[in-house]
This record gives sequence, structure tokens and C-alpha cells, in this order.
Amino acid sequence: MSGAKNASLALMPATLLAPGTYTLQNTPTLRDVTTMSRLLESMGVGIVHADHTLTVDSSHVTRFEAPYEHVKKMRASIYVLGPLVARYGAAHVSLPGGCAWGPRPVNLHIEGLRKLGVEIKLDAGYILAKATRLRGARIVFDVSSVGATGNVMMAAVLAKGTTVIDNAAMEPEISALAEFLVRMGARINGIGSNHLEIEGVDELHPADCTTIPDRIEAGTFLVAAAIAGKKGSKVRVERCNPGHMSAVTTKLEDAGATLTIGEDFIELEPSGEIRPVNVTTSIYSGFPTDMQAQWIALMSLAGGTSIVTDTIYFDRFMHVPELIRLGANITVKENIATVVGVEKLKGAKVMSTDLRASASLILAGLIAEGTTDVLRVYHLDRGYERIEKKLSGLGADIQRVSGEEF
Ligand code: UD1
Repeated sequence: MSGAKNASLALMPATLLAPGTYTLQNTPTLRDVTTMSRLLESMGVGIVHADHTLTVDSSHVTRFEAPYEHVKKMRASIYVLGPLVARYGAAHVSLPGGCAWGPRPVNLHIEGLRKLGVEIKLDAGYILAKATRLRGARIVFDVSSVGATGNVMMAAVLAKGTTVIDNAAMEPEISALAEFLVRMGARINGIGSNHLEIEGVDELHPADCTTIPDRIEAGTFLVAAAIAGKKGSKVRVERCNPGHMSAVTTKLEDAGATLTIGEDFIELEPSGEIRPVNVTTSIYSGFPTDMQAQWIALMSLAGGTSIVTDTIYFDRFMHVPELIRLGANITVKENIATVVGVEKLKGAKVMSTDLRASASLILAGLIAEGTTDVLRVYHLDRGYERIEKKLSGLGADIQRVSGEEF
């Protein structure tokens, strides 16, 4: 498996916190990583990405702006806000606006940074932030947010005094960021828990790291095996971290698959029939919202009815009408999808609307009778590296017909 997109997107902006050269190994080759590279380059950072190694030189940062052109492509661009204002005392970052599955506010990022003493104004679609030395504070997030925890943590490491973040996100990508910051000289306690204590330091220094494996990519391939694998066959997902994936692996076992879990691999043997299994997404270590669309694709072929509830993003069901075009029987009411398993799906033209929705359509297409054309496949390249090649390696008949390979 590749390195985790959501870890890379946090590690890369962290390099703004101390001038110098960094080596980030196992960085995936993805459109979102390129977007973050372009954004950092526009600020004066030098970046070379070769053979999954990202070499970053942040010695000459001269601009403190994340323009709309970047942020509209990728919301994670907001991760530059905390490091810029903490290190350089100024940041102009475009507000991200909504996304395909509804509003995605950044109020928690702003409130958290304000508590650290950042002066923030909103003007003409931009967050205008300035500060002298930040000061430690106690922050209790109303909602557990990956992005806000990452942003505030990156600012707090350079604040004067101690910052406490309660209801902090516990996602492995946030722990990976915290561990990287510690390598850079930050003092952070409680990594991996929802209570972080950060004792600010005067300055940090560059460090190197190896990006953790992508648990969502690994989960997607396991669902691919469960949906399209033949009884008696086995698919082994290697170079993953099973410890980050127990919510997904447990549900796959509930759905009838046999799993062998090693230290850094998971092997799945399908049972030949998919049992209906309800899923409710939640913060880590619950079932990830980033696996919800793929799970609905799997449940579309289960021998019964299942209920899939998304408690993180209430409107994240854009894949459902497309799965219905393939013959799935799904109804959505508010944030709850009722999936009545059907015996088979039939190939059709379908449209991807976002990254994980595209993955779910590909999974359904693997098992649908006839050919499925997934349009707007560029969404996939944001978060899956060479997915069609990896699936072909497992025996899938899948080709990229148009659109550049990334
Ligand atoms: C990150 C992931 C994304 C994943 C999501 C939830 C990255 C780059 N992206 O997104 O793939 O789907 O976590 O696991 O890591 N919220 C607020 N106010 C805020 C911020 C968030 O109300 O200021 C709410 C959101 O609307 C959502 C919940 O908090 O309901 C969680 O969102 P959050 O964890 O912030 O998601 P992202 O960091 O944007």
C-alpha cells in the first residue's frame, strides 16, 4: 500500500515551522500531494518528489498566502494557516467554502487559533491572520476535528507556555503529525489520545520521517476483495498497519470474509456470500467516513438489508444515485442509507463526484455484469495511487480510457 494521503497533507505544511531541509519518505504520488507541493512552492519552498521520497527545503519562505486557486482544489490547504502564523506571524488563507457533500466549516480552526492569541479577520473570502508570539491556552473542541486539531497543534508547538487540547482528534494521521513535530523538537504529551498537552518551544529544527500506510486505501482494496474475490481465493494487502484498521476488518469479518491479520499485512478470503452488516461512521477508532461509500457498494450485494449511517458528514451520499444506476437498491433519508442487497449489478455509465464515491463506483463496477464506465476519474487520482494497476494485478479487467495517469 502507499503512504497515507491525509498524513502527507499534514506533514508537508509542518515543514513551514522550521527552515531547512526535510526528507519525507513513503510520500504517495497523488494529485493532492502535488496540489500541496504547488501551494508550498508558491510560498518559496523547494520541493522534489521522486521515488516516493519528498525532499522539502523550507529555508526561503517569502509569501504567507494560500490563494483561492489552491484552496478550492483541496481543502487541506488550510493546514498552512497554523504553521505560517506561528512561525512568521502572518497568514492569508482563502476560506475553503463548501464541497460536493455539503458545508465543511473551519470555525474550529479559527476559534482554536484565536485562543492562542492569533488575530483573525475574515475579508473578501480570506482568513487574514496575524500574531506576535502565540501563547498557550486551553482549547476544548465542540466537535472532534482532524484538520482543526492538526492546525492548532502546529501553531501551539511554537507558542509561549502550555496548550491543552481536549476532544482532540485521535486519527492515526494526527498522531503521525504529532510524532513528526516531536522529531522536530516539539514537546507533545498524550499523542494518540483525545487530550493533548503541548509545551511550546522557542524554535524547532528540520527532521525526516516515513509516512504511515494509507488505511483507507488498504480498506478499499479489502472491500474490493470481499466484493469481487472468488470463494477460495485470497487477497493479501501488504505494507499496511492492521492496528489502524480494526473497525473495518471487524466489519468485513461480520460480513462473512475470513481475515488473516499479520503485523503489516491483512489477507482476505471471501466466503462467497456477503452478509448484511450495519455500519455507523464515527471518529477514530470507529468506522471511518472515508470508507462509507465503499461499504455501501459492498452491502449493495449482500444477502439482506443493512443500514449505513454517516454521523461525520450528513450529506455524503453522492455515490448512491450512481450505484442505483448500476441496479443497487438504496434509499437515503437524512444521513441514513438503507441498502437492500440485490443479486447482481449491471454495468452502466456512472459519474464520480468525489474521491471515495469514485472508489465505490469502481468496486461496484468490478462485480457488475458487463462494462461500467466511470467518468470524471480524476477524482480518484487525488487519493489512490495507480488504483487501476493495483486492481489489474489482482485480476480485475480495468483500464484507464482517458485522463492522464498521475
Ligand atoms: C479529514 C480528512 C477527511 C476525512 C475527515 C473525517 C484530511 C486531509 N481529510 O478532513 O478525509 O473525511 O477528516 O475523518 O485529513 N467541523 C466543524 N468545524 C470545523 C472543522 C470541522 O464543524 O472547523 C466538523 C465537520 O463538518 C465534520 C467534523 O467536524 O462534521 C469532522 O471534520 P474534520 O475532522 O475537520 O475533517 P477534515 O479535517 O476536513
